[in-house]
This record gives sequence, C-alpha cells and structure tokens, in this order.
Amino acid sequence: MLQIKRAGHSTLTTPDIERMVDYFTRIVGLNLVAREKGRAVLATKSGPEAIVLEHGSAVDAPRLSFQVAPGSDPGELVARLKRAGIKCERRSDITPGIREVVTFADPKGTTLEIFADFGFAPDDPTFTGVMPLKLGHIAYTCPDVQGLVKFYCDVLGFRVSDWRGDFFAFLRCSRDHHTVNFLRDDRAAIHHIAFEVRDWSDIKRASDLLAKSNIKLTWGPLRHIIGHNIAIYHQNPDGVVIEFFCEMDQMHDEELGFFEPRPWHQDRPQRPKVWGDDTLSNWWGPMSHSPNRTNAAATKPSAAAAAQFAAIHRTPAAAPARVRNEQKKSRPKKSRR
Ligand SMILES: [Fe+2]
Repeated sequence: MLQIKRAGHSTLTTPDIERMVDYFTRIVGLNLVAREKGRAVLATKSGPEAIVLEHGSAVDAPRLSFQVAPGSDPGELVARLKRAGIKCERRSDITPGIREVVTFADPKGTTLEIFADFGFAPDDPTFTGVMPLKLGHIAYTCPDVQGLVKFYCDVLGFRVSDWRGDFFAFLRCSRDHHTVNFLRDDRAAIHHIAFEVRDWSDIKRASDLLAKSNIKLTWGPLRHIIGHNIAIYHQNPDGVVIEFFCEMDQMHDEELGFFEPRPWHQDRPQRPKVWGDDTLSNWWGPMSHSPNRTNAAATKPSAAAAAQFAAIHRTPAAAPARVRNEQKKSRPKKSRR
C-alpha cells in the first residue's frame, strides 16, 4: 500500500485555454508558472502547483497527482503497486515542480500521478484574486462508490471520514476531513474542485470579488454538516464547479479518532460515521432549514433547495451557456450611474 500525504495538482482539459488561464490567475488568484503551446501550469501563491490546464475538445479532469513521503524510491513504489496487481509506469518532468512520477489508473479511469519530491514554484509578488492557501479536495461522481473507496483505502492509504447513506463518501489522507469525495452517479466525472482559504473573511472577500466579476454563487455561503466547512460554490467559465472553503474538520490524531471541533459538532466527540440519507447538506445558509423543522419530512430539502443542490451536480458540458446567460442578465445596465 502507498501512503498518500496530500493532493498535488488536478489536470483539466479545456477547449479555451486562454480563458481558463485568465480565470485561474485573475479570479482564483493562482500563479502562472509555465505556459507552453496547449498547456499551462498554475500554482498557489505559496508555491505548490495546483492546476494544470491542457487543450482538449471536452471539459474533463483526466489526471490527479498525489504526494507520498519525500525521498520515497519510485522503483520501490512500482514494485509495491505491481505486487498489488496494478499496472503502472514511470514518467518524468510532468511539471516544473515534479521530476518523477509513477502513474496508474484508478477504477473510474482517472490517471493518478504519484510523486515523492517536489520543487516549490518561484515567488509571485502579485496580489490578485482569491489567492487560496491550497488545492483542498477534489470530488468525483462514479457508479461504484464502494469499489472506489476500497481502492483508495487499500492501495493509496486513505481513511474514510464519513459517509452520507451509501452513496456519498468522504476520504482523508491527512488531518483534513476529506481530500477526495465520491458521489454515486451513472457517469464517472469531475463533481467539483475545492480550494482552501484562510478564514471567513476570505470567503466574504471571494464572494465580493466573484460578484464584481459577474460570477454568481451557485450555493452558499453556508456551513456544511458533514465536514463542517464554511463554503461557497460557483461555476468557472468551463462550467466546472469550484468551491472555496475554510474551517474544515481536522483529525489531529488518528489514534484519538475524533475530529477537532471547528467550532462545535453535533456529536461529542465527532467521529467518522454514516450520516442518514435525510441529513441536511448544511447547518446554515441555503438548504439549512425548511418552514417546519419539527416535521420529519421537513428535514429533507425543499424543491428550491434541491434545485440549488442540483446546480452543483450539473454536468460541465451543459453549464457554460446557462452560466453566461445568468451572468449577462446580472450585469448592471450601462445607463445606470
Ligand atoms: Fe467540497
């Protein structure tokens, strides 16, 4: 088994790479560290690479990198994977910061790129956009969540933090409540990409920046119940859902086995568990309540709330036209002061 320590970068394909470079630098506030024909590499201002853009006819997220312990021998990683019956290969110089990876496919078809050593991107002195701390988590849909969870735990060393029913799993590889999450759906696809920001004031600043850029929030601000993170969601120009979050649950000590309150929890202590199907998506914010909370049925989202939830499930290909239309409608008329 490998022992993943953190997510590296997500590789996204896009039909319009210039538009996405503009979005990730000017809105998200990443640092452009490499730009080649049909390809761009972006890092957070603090140095770790977070997003690789590649030109493609369809919007997709075909690859995801993870870091194992620095100094790990790639040859030994290959041997371990082969003993587990996994076909893999070594590749080199995939980004400016990553010289060597071992790659293989996970059961839903995403290519994983495992690296041990990493060079931080050079300092970017500009102060632009949201400027998240790091790539926090990546969520996917897939038909067989149970099989995928078993693979991530058995092969990559992830631990299960929580389940919602039997259809939504949250897995951790570090203190963070989740670095990947998997939601059952007929189709394997990217669900959303989440960046961690410092605190609630950064969420407020991000909301203002998005509004000023004519990008509407599709959900939030809110505090989730599973993971307890404060979050906002929007769609990028390709229709991929992007989350900014802070205050996610942390498990500081695996032996103690409970999450640190941030700032409080429903259970005392809050341990990994299976939450009921009827658990609300968030404690406050949109979908956090209904007109009659005393009625058992009221714990289920209203039709309007369900529509909001569906908005973040929208497939990327279907989203851009809708987003552009909504943003066009929301632009102030020129005749106004
Ligand atoms: Fe998320």
